[in-house]
Amino acid sequence: MSAALAARHAFAVELAREAGDLAISIRQNLGALESKEPMDYATRADHDVEALIRRRVAERFGDAVIGEEDGGAPASVVWVVDPIDGTTNFIHGTPRWCISIALLVDGEPEIGVINAPDEGRLFAARRGQGALLNGAPLSVSGLRHGASPVVETGWSPRRSLAAYGELITRLIGDGIEFRRNGSGALGMADVACGRNDGYLELHINAWDVLAGIVLVREAGGWVNGFLDNDGLMRGNPIIACTPEIQQRLMAAISFSN
Ligand code: IPD
Ligand code: CA
Ligand code: CA
Repeated sequence: MSAALAARHAFAVELAREAGDLAISIRQNLGALESKEPMDYATRADHDVEALIRRRVAERFGDAVIGEEDGGAPASVVWVVDPIDGTTNFIHGTPRWCISIALLVDGEPEIGVINAPDEGRLFAARRGQGALLNGAPLSVSGLRHGASPVVETGWSPRRSLAAYGELITRLIGDGIEFRRNGSGALGMADVACGRNDGYLELHINAWDVLAGIVLVREAGGWVNGFLDNDGLMRGNPIIACTPEIQQRLMAAISFSN
């Protein structure tokens, strides 16, 4: 499988670039927004980018795909993709959005690629082979900055505002700064490259975090058992961080199940 994985890794990097170019070309002419649930939208770009990814995977490998917009089912070799993560940022014209592409083999996240074209950042990792940002090796912060930890806490309508409030209250009570920047995938990538010390969310889907899980692990970080209890199809809480704050983040999220 090693040669097959190397081929898929190179393919995923090129595909993430092509997908980013397509999203940018559509952005000026998004047309009507589709409202999936309150405060959760899809655009023509989300659908067209996912269709491109599915077409390219089918042409080249014939592997299974699970995508945010068109679903899919588990398989021994399956790509898990979010065509645009940070759709609200994308719609508002801010640069913090990305394409997230992961490959899972026999339930193990093997490849993670995240392309944030407006930020000029392309992250790529393969299990056991390290993580790169624009070709340069990455590592988690190790709290080397010496300041209070900064942790991004994503939120979606899938969990109550009261629970989110409790999480923020616990973090601040423990001397941890919080941020919420609107892309779970980039929140994970920022843990991998040390811009954030952690990423936490009470519930998130596999297409938002699987690529980031490979990145964070390969950058020396710690990630919870996100795929346990059918996290692939049902989502789960995510905790990803520099190892020094693992216990503090587990304590912060412990009220929720
Ligand atoms: C959302 C973003 C957000 C996270 C949510 C996701 P979308 O994905 O990643 O930051 O907090 O859980 O659903 O809708 O932008 O693809
Ligand atoms: Ca997403
Ligand atoms: Ca999305």
